[in-house]
Amino acid sequence: MRVIAHDPLPIDGNGNRLPLPPDFVMGVGGASRTLLDLTPSRHVSRALDLGCGSGVQTLFLNADRIIGVDIDERALQAANASCHLSGFRQVEANVWRNGDSMIELREGSFLDPVEGQRFDLIVANPPFVIEGAGHVHRDSPLAGDELVRELMATIPQHLNVGGRAILLGCWLHTSSMDWEERLLSWVPAGVSAWIAQRELLDLDAYVDVWMQDAGLDAAEQLKWLARLEQLDAEAIGFGWIVLERSRRVWTVAEDVSDAPRTPNGEEVERQLAAFESEPTAVELLDAHWEFADAHWRGGLMLNPFEALLLERLRAGDTLAEAVDAVADSQSVEAGDLLAAGLLVTRELVRLGYLTA
Ligand SMILES: C[S@@+](CC[C@H](N)C(=O)[O-])C[C@H]1O[C@@H](n2cnc3c(N)ncnc32)[C@H](O)[C@@H]1O
Repeated sequence: MRVIAHDPLPIDGNGNRLPLPPDFVMGVGGASRTLLDLTPSRHVSRALDLGCGSGVQTLFLNADRIIGVDIDERALQAANASCHLSGFRQVEANVWRNGDSMIELREGSFLDPVEGQRFDLIVANPPFVIEGAGHVHRDSPLAGDELVRELMATIPQHLNVGGRAILLGCWLHTSSMDWEERLLSWVPAGVSAWIAQRELLDLDAYVDVWMQDAGLDAAEQLKWLARLEQLDAEAIGFGWIVLERSRRVWTVAEDVSDAPRTPNGEEVERQLAAFESEPTAVELLDAHWEFADAHWRGGLMLNPFEALLLERLRAGDTLAEAVDAVADSQSVEAGDLLAAGLLVTRELVRLGYLTA
């Protein structure tokens, strides 16, 4: 069992929520849960949690050697308390053993305490709130979405070949560039990236979400909005970024705000494998497919021909057999259906609905 030690939410004598102090150490928040969901549970050798806070991610990582880094001494005290309360054995100051896992908590800024080291898995729920009010646990210390750009540039230098990083972040939508193009331009050469936008908020809604916790008044809200407008911001996206040192380099930026849920770690791994795969036409035609029911992306919008094809694939046909059978049943030439069949199958493989 894991127990997370954290500051209690401040309340007044009548039970009303008070503004969070600037050095608040949070427990398991909504973003923490999203990252916990996304993180694959497969065992790795070395894992790193950037901005570990009270240890929410660190304590759940499955690795021989785990390092949690935070700049805030109070957060590290809470992370140590979490290790203790979770029954881990203290080996020395800031070092804990949990079965075969060794967990070390280090104080410092992001990657500074792990200079020159490489990991198989890096997770980060960094302080990504843009132009916020100076809360160390949530407000970015850099202007605009510069922290996300900085982390995307530096984290891959700390990944082993085959290693991957999963981070949460917020990014600006500006008038001068598509958000996808802007974020993809931050991906270092030779690194694969999946940038998924889970939510898009206009500036008023964005400031509203974070204002209440900070206890800001209307004048401060207007100042926050003005700072965002100065950055040419039109809206703000929130989502996850996976960076990978994969064999074949690929990059994807997409909006997934229509998806009914966040993918779990296993689904993330399957999605990354699907992005990396490059099946040939022959492979697409000859494979037998497994269809992922209850896919995290939700249901599919298919035209009648595509729906018939998928029905056959799900029943065990290869695509070559399915095209023949559908052409037969619809009295059309198989050759006329082939190109469309390949196109839709390739896309369903890419999105992770079909696995060979
Ligand atoms: C949003 S909290 C995430 C806490 C925890 N990892 C989770 O998922 O719930 C961000 C954490 O980053 C830490 N942080 C802020 N600036 C940092 C920096 N420059 N280097 C390392 N950690 C930092 C904060 O102290 C805070 O604990």
